[in-house]
Amino acid sequence: MRTIRIEASRGYDVCVGPGLLKEAPGRLAALFPGARVMLVSDDRVFSLYGKTLLDDLAAAGTETETFVFPHGEKQKNLGTWGELLEALCRSGFTRADVVAALGGGVVGDLAGFAAAAYRRGIPFVQLPTTLLAAVDSSVGGKTGLDLAGGKNQVGAFYQPWLVLCDTETLATLPQEEVLGGSAEVVKYAMIGSEELMRTLEADPAAARSEKVIAACVEMKRDYVLADEFDTGCRQMLNFGHTFGHAAELLSDYRIPHGQAVAMGMAVMTRSAAEAGICSRETADRLLRLLQRLGLPETIPFPAEAVARAARSDKKAQGSRLTLIVPEGVGACRAETVDASELIAWLRRGGLT
Ligand SMILES: NC(=O)c1ccc[n+]([C@@H]2O[C@H](COP(=O)([O-])OP(=O)(O)OC[C@H]3O[C@@H](n4cnc5c(N)ncnc54)[C@H](O)[C@@H]3O)[C@@H](O)[C@H]2O)c1
Repeated sequence: MRTIRIEASRGYDVCVGPGLLKEAPGRLAALFPGARVMLVSDDRVFSLYGKTLLDDLAAAGTETETFVFPHGEKQKNLGTWGELLEALCRSGFTRADVVAALGGGVVGDLAGFAAAAYRRGIPFVQLPTTLLAAVDSSVGGKTGLDLAGGKNQVGAFYQPWLVLCDTETLATLPQEEVLGGSAEVVKYAMIGSEELMRTLEADPAAARSEKVIAACVEMKRDYVLADEFDTGCRQMLNFGHTFGHAAELLSDYRIPHGQAVAMGMAVMTRSAAEAGICSRETADRLLRLLQRLGLPETIPFPAEAVARAARSDKKAQGSRLTLIVPEGVGACRAETVDASELIAWLRRGGLT
């Protein structure tokens, strides 16, 4: 088991290793003596891990309530969020109680934003069960929801009190979800670690190992500590996301987040190689790795539609957008461009 300490506006431990869900009741009781726990999960994750966790919490003497909603990105909306807030209120939760998010990024983002808003903030812990949530969404305090006009358009920076990533839960992840999380791991390699890239090139399956998950959390910690509120270098973590979010939106969220990020990274890197910002070898290494992982290498929409959707991304500031552009493996830079230039970037990246 590895523990990474994040000293952000709230300090907390991120623990990564096998068997951590079994330890959760003891750790929660120690951190929040006498607190009740609202266990938030989606139907798939709850059916796999929810009952055992509730039994273990009861055995530890912890009172619980549950809020389970249908799985999928479409549930990360104001309606489900409102229902969770009403459930917290109905159950009489106070700031002495805890919200526990058991699941992937959808559960974590939704439960975290409810915890941030309910009574102006009650404690919450993340129990990530997807690779994507383990390496990315459960750490760093971004919480939020999608609106009809775009992804993550409303939310709050709200750090958790604890993150317990039980790596055993990754064994039941569908292949598609393993791939999505692997895309985020590739992202970390591209923005900051030649060593991680080499590890993945030697064995793409290493993306889901405890060692690699912990390495990604450490990288995320460094970005969060340097720029918790995402006004500077934390934007590097958006590599692949501007075009990726556009692809998600255009597919009506049928393209999962991680796959969309892979598409966005591939198009951006091809474009950067064409423009002479990075070498062709850099682009080839990324594309080869994505191919070996079984991840997509292009966006299945025309450049014009992607550019239009990208403009609605919340990272857009008026007609200006910040693109994260690779200069090599392990090195990216931020480039602010006018929205009118997006089509040229996308066409250079291979879109028609
Ligand atoms: N807050 C952040 O910093 C941040 C960062 C990256 C992504 N995100 C958000 O995260 C979301 C994507 O997260 P995700 O990919 O985890 O999606 P998800 O939460 O929808 O999970 C994907 C699917 O896997 C299932 N699942 C989860 N754990 C499982 C397990 N152990 N075994 C079997 N099935 C399991 C879920 O039921 C769901 O159907 C997006 O909404 C994205 O915007 C947030």
